[in-house]
Amino acid sequence: MQVGVQDNVLDALGEARQRTLALVEPLDGEQIERVHDPLMSPLVWDLGHIAAYEDLWLVHRHGGEPLLRADLADVYDAFETPRSQRGDVPLLRHHRCVDYLEAVRTRTLEVAAREGTGELHEMVLRHEQQHSETMLQTLQLARLDDYRPPRRQLASANGHQHDGLELVEIPGGPFELGASDDQFAYDNERPRHRVDIPAFRIGVTPVTNGTYLSFAEGGGYERREWWTREGWAWKEEYDISRPEFWSDDGLRWRIGGAEPLDPNEPVVHVSWFEADAFARSHGARLPTEAEWEKAATWDQRSLQRYAYPWGNEPPSPERHANVDQLAYGPAPAGAYPEGAAPSGCLGMVGDLWEWTSSPFGGYPGFRAHPYREYSEVFFGDSYRVLRGGSWATRARVATSMVRNWDLPQRRQIFAGFRIAKDIP
Ligand code: AVJ
Ligand code: FE
Repeated sequence: MQVGVQDNVLDALGEARQRTLALVEPLDGEQIERVHDPLMSPLVWDLGHIAAYEDLWLVHRHGGEPLLRADLADVYDAFETPRSQRGDVPLLRHHRCVDYLEAVRTRTLEVAAREGTGELHEMVLRHEQQHSETMLQTLQLARLDDYRPPRRQLASANGHQHDGLELVEIPGGPFELGASDDQFAYDNERPRHRVDIPAFRIGVTPVTNGTYLSFAEGGGYERREWWTREGWAWKEEYDISRPEFWSDDGLRWRIGGAEPLDPNEPVVHVSWFEADAFARSHGARLPTEAEWEKAATWDQRSLQRYAYPWGNEPPSPERHANVDQLAYGPAPAGAYPEGAAPSGCLGMVGDLWEWTSSPFGGYPGFRAHPYREYSEVFFGDSYRVLRGGSWATRARVATSMVRNWDLPQRRQIFAGFRIAKDIP
């Protein structure tokens, strides 16, 4: 099984746990237990939920043991206790949660020593890694003045400045979409299938802050004709006139503090509605997810699909902004030229999520696995697909196949976009 970054799943579980605990280590109990934003759970719920999920899948289902804490199953189940209730129900205090995490992990390791490991371990590992991104969204929304973790230094754009408006042509013809059978993947990434799409053009990089600022200052939020009906209604109701976390003195909030907007970085914290309006203002549109994945992985010369944009080798610091220490933001657009896709597209994985035009649905032949609630219950017209993974997405999760989804008005995700155009 090709898993990418770190092949021993038990070691990787240990490393994921260090990351989880490191995120809350600088916080006091009140900051861990408070609801920082109505959209998000208290951080302490994420901690208990990570433990309960591992108990369910690796101890109970994989090991055949009773749950360690059956009494907590409902309160830490994402559906039994939706986000809106997580600030009101009795949760374990944060020290008790850390004990719960440790107690479950001890049992996980005992079961693994007896029964071995399998696909469920990879699923639970990625679950904990995904929740570390959720927790970073909470920390971004919390705007804590005293939370200043060290940041990884990112590569620069190497002299060449990208604005996100430069497009490359992707030839028409069939390619392979989705995950192959010989690797771990979520059910919504399977089965791999051939898709034949016409030629199109797509941004070499995501749209930058500087380019987006010109849109905002050039009447982007006032020109009705650039917005969908739903997008306009949303913008009017919430009086939106710039990306979330921007302020009118030219600063933007990033975990660790307010700082001047960097015009060369990709814009983040825009909704799908804003991304779509920007694209229309440039006579463009958002790419479909099939277009995105083709631009990220397809080598037109050899007619084969790569695992990552740069080829089949796992992510490395020369190619990818998001190995090791957290950067707390994306790299300047066009940084990491060694991570380019065969198409010439830059920064496709591990920098920021990118909105696509596609609603979230199952691929032809989709089968829910191992449980319906991971993906299938979200299929339909409500959710839009995001691709690529962000600086907050662990490299193991940020693959060229991974599909994220959210509502078109949401802005807490570390998400921007690149534009696309038909070829007339
Ligand atoms: C794939 C990010 C939309 O957070 O709802 C975490 C991941 N699923 N626990 C989410 C997930 C169950 C999921 N997203
Ligand atoms: Fe979860």
